[in-house]
Amino acid sequence: MRYLTIALAKGRLAKQTMEMLEKIGIFCEEMKDEKTRKLIFTNEELKLRFFLAKATDVPTYVEYGAADIGFVGKDTILEEGRNLYEVLDLGFGKCRMCVCGPESAREKLQNHELIRVASKYPAIARDYFYNVKHQTVEIIKLNGSVELAPIVGLSEVIVDIVETGSTLRENGLVVLEEVCPLSARMVVNQVSMKMENERIRRLIEQMRELIRKENA
Ligand code: PRP
Repeated sequence: MRYLTIALAKGRLAKQTMEMLEKIGIFCEEMKDEKTRKLIFTNEELKLRFFLAKATDVPTYVEYGAADIGFVGKDTILEEGRNLYEVLDLGFGKCRMCVCGPESAREKLQNHELIRVASKYPAIARDYFYNVKHQTVEIIKLNGSVELAPIVGLSEVIVDIVETGSTLRENGLVVLEEVCPLSARMVVNQVSMKMENERIRRLIEQMRELIRKENA
């Protein structure tokens, strides 16, 4: 039996995913050692390999088949636009992708003014404004603390993740429009899905059953 390789977006998502996997009997003790500099971990009995990667790289590893399976946020899946199968909503890490800004930007949005939109997610922002709203805007790519942009006058609005809403509140910004809901997802390489169909389908079924039980 060959090894199935699983890529996890490092951080909270990886931790919560490993907790779910443990509940269906898939363990990887080595990975819990926070001091380790090791990048890849193996479960010999189950013939599984795990590695942690930067979230934005997980869809890349999965598309090319370097990982058979990936666990990553829907935001990253949408932004990266890779060829892969999204097979399961894990039901945690729930938040929303939103257009946000000061209340004063609402009118400019509604009037279809040529506004500037700052975002860590330029592809999602572009798709939303061009293909959903049919509105021409200027997209400015940022890499973090995006809420700063409308405060210092870089852009009128932002497209960003809203979870509790406290970052917006503390900076005098509001949600103006909702782009889409987000959560952690399981993705699968398209060839692996065929070649390792039985093992991967079993894993999906076990995870689905766990999610069903936990939400019951
Ligand atoms: C994310 C997001 C918002 C914040 C939303 O940022 O970009 O800034 O969390 O959460 P809230 O609604 O609960 O306040 P992250 O912490 O990932 O940092 P970054 O902005 O530097 O990317």
